Amino acid sequence: METRLVRVNDINKCSDAIKQAAKLIRKGETVAFPTETVYGLGANALDPEAVEKIFKAKGRPADNPLIVHIDNINDLKQLTAFVRDEAYQLIERFWPGPLTIIFDKSSSVPDIVTAGLDTVAIRMPSHSVAAALIRESGVPIAAPSANSSGRPSPTSARHVYDDLKGRIPMILDGGRTDVGLESTVLDITGDKPVILRPGGITYEMLREVLGEVELDPGIFAPLDNGRKASSPGMKYRHYAPNAPVTIYRGDISRLAEEITKAASMHLLQGKKVGIIATDETSGIYNDMNDMLKNEDARDSLKIISLGSRKFPADMAAHLFECLREIDRAGVDVILAEGVDRHGEGLAIMNRLARAAGFHFVDVD
Ligand code: TXA
Ligand code: MG
Repeated sequence: METRLVRVNDINKCSDAIKQAAKLIRKGETVAFPTETVYGLGANALDPEAVEKIFKAKGRPADNPLIVHIDNINDLKQLTAFVRDEAYQLIERFWPGPLTIIFDKSSSVPDIVTAGLDTVAIRMPSHSVAAALIRESGVPIAAPSANSSGRPSPTSARHVYDDLKGRIPMILDGGRTDVGLESTVLDITGDKPVILRPGGITYEMLREVLGEVELDPGIFAPLDNGRKASSPGMKYRHYAPNAPVTIYRGDISRLAEEITKAASMHLLQGKKVGIIATDETSGIYNDMNDMLKNEDARDSLKIISLGSRKFPADMAAHLFECLREIDRAGVDVILAEGVDRHGEGLAIMNRLARAAGFHFVDVD
């Protein structure tokens, strides 16, 4: 299958592209499209055969449910059994935007979308292209991130193309996504609201609206054998570069010291080393690079900065691109600096932890 890549930077001038994409959705095909978080691979959420194509294209396990995207609050009625008061508070404050809410589902949501669960994940994206596509299609759109299963989520149309070319008919290219990490997933179907996946709508923001919010234990620890995942996606290895990742946690000056030591050791053993740094520390690693005498040795060290620790939202926006870039460099090991867990930092640490298979080194 040929994969068409169509630019939609100026939504007013691109109504044709959106119309074509909507037509594909209505015909039961898949289309990749930008959202404010990451690119999604969409299909008509009410058409099980169309949704099946998403699972096939991504190689996604059938027991991992999808998020349904809507552009109008009225669509909630059709998809849910009932909507709690808390949900309306959250919707008022955070929709459209990067918050996915888990509801009790109605019978009109096909089982394949929810992987047989009796709940459904719903969000209203704020990206103008995503909103226009849903509106023009006239149906709710089920969409996971548009990467092949296990890879970092795509933050540009190029990432989607690299992963899914030949397997989907169309990609709407809206440039780089804004948030850069997937939406926050919040379950409000139980006694207390629980964050299943941290994201751009932070724990602190949710606390302000809800008072009390819990973090699912699966966010920072691997699932024990036999413990059921609250969010099935949590049991899969994710965001994973080819090389093993180790995250260093603790005081920032000690972090750089320990990572420099570990990197030197790997280099001595003839390994190619990738370092995920921050603006505050990348100079230290660059100094190490300068000390490597010959060109060959310098090629063995790839240093990428996520951005400044002062701006966690910026670091979040770069994370997946960094993981892909460091992968392309063909390194043998990746050493990553941990960041503060406040604000977007919580989501950054969650994605890093998953990429590292929860492999941490505490330096304090
Ligand atoms: O930002 C996003 O959320 C992006 C864009 C495209 O909207 N989508 C996305 O979808 O990240 P996906 O499929 O990659 O991640 C959805 C997560 C998975 O971990 C899945 O297990 C969880 O949401 N999920 C979906 N339905 C659920 C449900 N009913 N109960 C618990 N977790 C659910
Ligand atoms: Mg995903």
